Amino acid sequence: MKRNSMPYQKTVFVCLNERDAGTCCTRSGSIKIHAQLKAAIKERGLKTQVRISRSGCMNRCMQGPNVMVFPDNAWYSEVVEADIPTLLDEITKDILVPE
Ligand code: FES
Repeated sequence: MKRNSMPYQKTVFVCLNERDAGTCCTRSGSIKIHAQLKAAIKERGLKTQVRISRSGCMNRCMQGPNVMVFPDNAWYSEVVEADIPTLLDEITKDILVPE
């Protein structure tokens, strides 16, 4: 095993779990949320600073789509497309971009 430092300043986990029955994040729109966050981070030129990742179930299926941001210790639930600009501002407000 090799231990490394974190390669990204922020890692954002978007739940893309799909349950066979019942409420889940994908049925609540998380695929679009994930895609839009990923595209926006790329658009802002922050791909090497912020990683938008998929996650499995976070056990909060009724409050989906769920998004966790590390190391911010932040959990966003019931995220809708209209929240993306605010979410992005919160995620990227303290990102350091090398000159
Ligand atoms: S399906 Fe997303 S928290 Fe369970």
